[in-house]
Amino acid sequence: MCGIVGYVGSQSALEVVTAGLKRLEYRGYDSAGVAVLADGGLAAAKKAGKLVNLEKELVERPLPTGSTGIGHTRWATHGGPTDANAHPHLDNAGRVAVVHNGIIENFAVLRAELAERGHELLSETDTEVVAHLLAEEFSVTADLAEAMRLVCRRLEGAFTLVAVHADEPDVVVGARRNSPLVVGVGEGEAFLASDVAAFIAHTRSAIELGQDQVVELRRGGVTVTGFDGRPGDVRSYHVDWDASAAEKGGYDYFMLKEIAEQPKAVADTLLGRIDVSGSLTLDEVRIPASELREIDKVVIVACGTAFHAGLIAKYAIEHWTRIPCEVELASEFRYRDPILDSRSLVIAISQSGETMDTLMALRHAREQGSRVLAICNTNGSTIPRESDAVLYTHAGPEVAVASTKAFLTQLVACYLVALYLGQVRGTKWGDEICAVIRDLSRISVEVERVLETMEPVRELARSLAEKDTVLFLGRHVGYPVALEGALKLKELAYMHAEGFAAGELKHGPIALIEDDLPVVVVAPSPRGRSVLHDKIVSNIQEIRARGARTIVIAEEGDEAVVPYADHLIRIPATPTLLQPLVATVPLQVFACELATARGNEVDQPRNLAKSVTVE
Ligand code: M6R
Repeated sequence: MCGIVGYVGSQSALEVVTAGLKRLEYRGYDSAGVAVLADGGLAAAKKAGKLVNLEKELVERPLPTGSTGIGHTRWATHGGPTDANAHPHLDNAGRVAVVHNGIIENFAVLRAELAERGHELLSETDTEVVAHLLAEEFSVTADLAEAMRLVCRRLEGAFTLVAVHADEPDVVVGARRNSPLVVGVGEGEAFLASDVAAFIAHTRSAIELGQDQVVELRRGGVTVTGFDGRPGDVRSYHVDWDASAAEKGGYDYFMLKEIAEQPKAVADTLLGRIDVSGSLTLDEVRIPASELREIDKVVIVACGTAFHAGLIAKYAIEHWTRIPCEVELASEFRYRDPILDSRSLVIAISQSGETMDTLMALRHAREQGSRVLAICNTNGSTIPRESDAVLYTHAGPEVAVASTKAFLTQLVACYLVALYLGQVRGTKWGDEICAVIRDLSRISVEVERVLETMEPVRELARSLAEKDTVLFLGRHVGYPVALEGALKLKELAYMHAEGFAAGELKHGPIALIEDDLPVVVVAPSPRGRSVLHDKIVSNIQEIRARGARTIVIAEEGDEAVVPYADHLIRIPATPTLLQPLVATVPLQVFACELATARGNEVDQPRNLAKSVTVE
């Protein structure tokens, strides 16, 4: 959950590293720090709070100029967000500096051993032990990469480590186990980062690091080995987006930009899916059709917003393929001993591809012999790498902590997988698949139309800024949309928000309704299963009769809801299963505007991080 940058080359390391940290701040923003090698020594600065605090510190107390350096932006795990706990951590001689993402589970034992050997540890972090261990090993090997390999073999847990040593002024060493780290290769320079966004302004040539690998960066090149010292396999790739994609582009917040990018993201995710013969082709899905025909159960694992995409996908998968589909929070999955075998297809959905809970769930599934298909937005990340197959969403970089365009593209990818299963198993005819693809292709324009009509939603959000609670109701695919609307509001506006299946209200939650309580209701299309629509109209009447202020999201032409809607948000008419693609958008805008009205940080909500790489 932290952001890490390393650089060696001929530019000012401090400039490259702090610019990289700025792009990685979405990963954690409790504290930040840098270290540079210069004049035969090592200089470091670190500060609690956002990167801006560190930048001020660097203006007041500048570091010497050097061309090798590392940096870190933190999401605290061990030890609170203080100056002392901020990274980098140094050994007692101040010759080695290390930054870390993850958790070193055996740090207490290592720390006690170090204390016995006379080391003085100054922070409460698990990371600091690594600096001391590296110093010890380096004093014997005089080789930072070898010292790193030796230390990593003693560590338990998940970690990305990046270190420098004053005695090797042109070297940066990194290591990874269960935590992200990518290498950028430029002309006479090299980069290490948690995410390519940190170095995309300098190079688009990247190398994926594998599990349990150590990488040594020098100006002239990059050497990858395993923790055991053997040469490591590497996969190079070209990043297909550029620096401008990772910038705000005139918007006040990344979230606003990413909401606005949704029409393109949806269209890009659909590109090239139908071949000349009219069949749906998912090239990256390397699971043979014969195996997919044998599947007797689909299990979706994901977290947060991606989990909500999975809940919606269930309706499409079961309807189009008639295969039973379970959707489970990845963080719960392996602990309940799920029933899986080689006929289960597990779909892991993750924007970042690094969410530890989802990664652990997919590993558990593979251990049970199941096939795993990842739906992911981040090329080269761990989840697709460890899956049998991957379907990439093409949302482009999502920087705001609150997931928006990733969600819509995850839905599109799920629909594609459902249709593909229908195709290979013969439960959907080619013309039926083409008809759904045509409907999906129109969604991009419909989302654009929704975005053009959002001013009243923003106005409504501003008028509710003083409220404490907002409830969300939905039925069928509108139920996960309600959950997603509530999640966005909690995460961004720090308000009490809950999503309910509208039919559940009468089983308890209706007691929450009081005078003027805002309740957002996602109304299903009246053109779909009319029973659903009739039921939601009754639900709206029930809550309104008890004083709720009803905010109804309903498709154009749905007149039945009008008498009961205190506020009406219109969305274009779509086929029932596709409605979440348009119904979610006003809820994103609503949450973003409420957060702004309440003075909250939209892109970096409190206590959160974009990529959750701890369990
Ligand atoms: O990167 P992932 O899609 O695996 O992330 C999963 C969740 O952490 C993420 O969707 C989170 O819930 C969002 N911040 C919600 O907006």
